[in-house]
Amino acid sequence: MKITIELDSFDDYRQLSKEDIQLVEKAREALKKAYAPYSKFKVGASLLLENGEILLGNNQENVAYPSGLCAERVVLFNAGANYSDHSIKTLCIAAEGDLIQEDQILSPCGACRQVMLESEVRQQKKYRIILISSKGNGVIFHSAKDLLPIAFGE
Ligand code: THU
Repeated sequence: MKITIELDSFDDYRQLSKEDIQLVEKAREALKKAYAPYSKFKVGASLLLENGEILLGNNQENVAYPSGLCAERVVLFNAGANYSDHSIKTLCIAAEGDLIQEDQILSPCGACRQVMLESEVRQQKKYRIILISSKGNGVIFHSAKDLLPIAFGE
């Protein structure tokens, strides 16, 4: 078996489409509002629906550590709970903190990948995922499945 994953990389997000630039900027805005007093690692997620609406999320921590939630799941569960009539077109994730260098992207955690994949299966349509660094370089995946090949539940 051979698994092939196609992804695009870019040096400067300002080279992207107007729609993607806006999503990157929204994810960056969202991370500023993260509630991350324990890790001090701020993550923001913006999600574009097919109808043009943009939803935002960020990581929400809790003194009982496992009770907190990653930015990706905050925004994806909001989409699932309140906007399930509209497909997700693109999800963008930005992060800032000591765990990551200026030119490094956040590689989403395993639990978020599982949730990202199920959102795609649920809507029966692929969506794009933009991972953006603080510097402005990043990568674009064309399906949530590419972030979790051979997933549980397939
Ligand atoms: N975090 C996210 O929001 N997304 C990820 O994909 C990985 C980690 C959050 C969880 C926690 O609040 C902080 O980053 C440090 O792990």
